[in-house]
Amino acid sequence: MNTTAPETVVRLDGVVKRFGATTALDGVSLTVDRGEIVVLLGLSGSGKSTLLRHLDGLEVPTSGSVEVLGEDVPRLAGRRLRALRSSVGFIFQQFELVPSLTVLENVLTGSLAGVRGPRLGLWSYSKARRLAALGHLDRVGLLDRAYQRADTLSGGQQQRVAIARALMQNPSVLLADEPVASLDPESSDQVMALIREIAADEGLTVVCSLHQVDLAISWADRIVGLRHGQVVLDLPTRDLSKTQVMEIYGRVATTTAELRAVQDELLLEAAAEQAR
Ligand SMILES: Nc1ncnc2c1ncn2[C@@H]1O[C@H](COP(=O)(O)OP(=O)(O)O)[C@@H](O)[C@H]1O
Ligand SMILES: [Mg+2]
Repeated sequence: MNTTAPETVVRLDGVVKRFGATTALDGVSLTVDRGEIVVLLGLSGSGKSTLLRHLDGLEVPTSGSVEVLGEDVPRLAGRRLRALRSSVGFIFQQFELVPSLTVLENVLTGSLAGVRGPRLGLWSYSKARRLAALGHLDRVGLLDRAYQRADTLSGGQQQRVAIARALMQNPSVLLADEPVASLDPESSDQVMALIREIAADEGLTVVCSLHQVDLAISWADRIVGLRHGQVVLDLPTRDLSKTQVMEIYGRVATTTAELRAVQDELLLEAAAEQAR
């Protein structure tokens, strides 16, 4: 097998996305190779969620192209769109579990990609699915919580359940939209560590948005900085310090508005540090 050339899993080329008068993405070009863990770093409103949603076909670009796993995403519909979405797991800031269902039932709903209508109760799933779900729960360290209601778990545990649910699809790409924004620093580190570990074991490609510089440096292979819908930095994290990241943000700020955004970023980080 030829393993020398990395395989491109995500390719955005000149992506512009407008919502009325708002330009959410302003000419984004980006490639992500198989197995890479890329963090999209940027302030609120910089375009992180919009970018991630393009990778799953939830948004269609105003112009430019979006390719994921070799598919021309904006052109997909029907069965091929569902097939792409089942290869792409998605986790969110608010976990989005069904609070009144058990942890195990929540994980099982991850196998419903492409299936219409709700399924109720454990027994509507095959034994193989139930065993797979238990395996994924074991994987995220929550096997002993399988029969508890989801809303009895802590935030960090709920996010781990959401990861187990995403694994039910056997995804090859994992998208994570601010997965630790609702968590305390310790749980944040646990969740990011788990994502890294699973990505390495399963050969998953991860694109994860964060707004904390420290977390991005600790957990990403590569940081892509977004500001006002533009890529303002794209660097491997190896040997990168927080000061360097902030300097880079500073260096690309050429207008007053941009400098203000850099300042906001520094203030945000200082506030986050104080909260610890
Ligand atoms: N569905 C939408 N309709 C209108 N404006 C939107 C929509 N989604 C995002 N935006 C705007 O696009 C910009 C980028 O938003 P978003 O991608 O959510 O940023 P982030 O995730 O970095 O906070 C913001 O100005 C936001 O208000
Ligand atoms: Mg967002």
